Amino acid sequence: MTANEKTTNTDHEGQVVVITGAASGLGARFAELFAQRGAHIVIGDIAEEAAHKLATSLGGTSLKCDVTKSHEVDALADLAVSHFGKIDVFINNAGIAPAPNEERFATAVANQMLRLENNVAATTPLNVITEMSDEDWDYMLKVHLYGTFYGSRAAARHMTPQRSGSIINISSVLGLRPTAMAPHYSTAKAAIIALTKSQSQELAPLGVRVNAVCPGYIDTPLLAPMNDLMKVAIVSQIGIGRLGTDDEIAEMVSFIASPKASYCTGEVFSVTGGYSG
Ligand SMILES: NC(=O)c1ccc[n+]([C@@H]2O[C@H](COP(=O)([O-])OP(=O)(O)OC[C@H]3O[C@@H](n4cnc5c(N)ncnc54)[C@H](O)[C@@H]3O)[C@@H](O)[C@H]2O)c1
Repeated sequence: MTANEKTTNTDHEGQVVVITGAASGLGARFAELFAQRGAHIVIGDIAEEAAHKLATSLGGTSLKCDVTKSHEVDALADLAVSHFGKIDVFINNAGIAPAPNEERFATAVANQMLRLENNVAATTPLNVITEMSDEDWDYMLKVHLYGTFYGSRAAARHMTPQRSGSIINISSVLGLRPTAMAPHYSTAKAAIIALTKSQSQELAPLGVRVNAVCPGYIDTPLLAPMNDLMKVAIVSQIGIGRLGTDDEIAEMVSFIASPKASYCTGEVFSVTGGYSG
């Protein structure tokens, strides 16, 4: 055996791994890393072309799948089983960013300063909740919380009879420490943690593990709408002093999906670089 062979990671050899939202960012990196470590990849994303291109390059398959539609998520799980015979890992990753609002961000910073000066009378209301439309609230919960529920349900239907499997739900540091700027996103991500813990208790006796990952601020296209001031303000609250990389989240997800994490279920894994916001 050569030194290279000795260090080759085969943690996902033969596993069938379904990933939602893997046409871009974190999900795309998960797909690449899992494939490199021996997995068969199935991607579901609304970005049909990009998903197809990546899946094909990895020897896997893909389907146009909008996670807000339960029948499309069911079809994704069915595709994995018809194509590769089973599902070992299902990663609920698809997501959207709350639209950043530069003016509101500047107001929040100014309010903090005024509060420190004990000048509360001069602060300006942020009106995040009061100005939020039903549609914005509903859609954020639909993509993240409903999408994760649909994916977890479809995965469990296939994993329970085989008495094995790993469901991984991508939450966020904002699910643990909600921000005033994105109550809908924070609420959806917190609810994903509750769903993870609840489902893990039902499925643990059936050999299926369910865990959540809470990334901090990671350098992916999701952060592209943020301006430099916002990024500097965020990085100033990160102990390690920089945004995270997709690899740093992918390694955690890979560990949770592997047999090395056989005693982990109902857990919440934070990967935030020491974010203290
Ligand atoms: N990047 C970060 O800083 C960060 C931090 C915490 C959590 N997260 C979470 O990680 C996950 C991945 O985010 P990312 O940073 O890779 O973002 P990204 O924008 O790079 O990728 C998101 C992917 O989800 C897909 N998608 C969006 N809506 C969908 C839908 N309705 N159905 C199916 N696919 C859909 C997009 O097409 C895209 O491919 C998200 O759940 C996000 O909330 C990201």
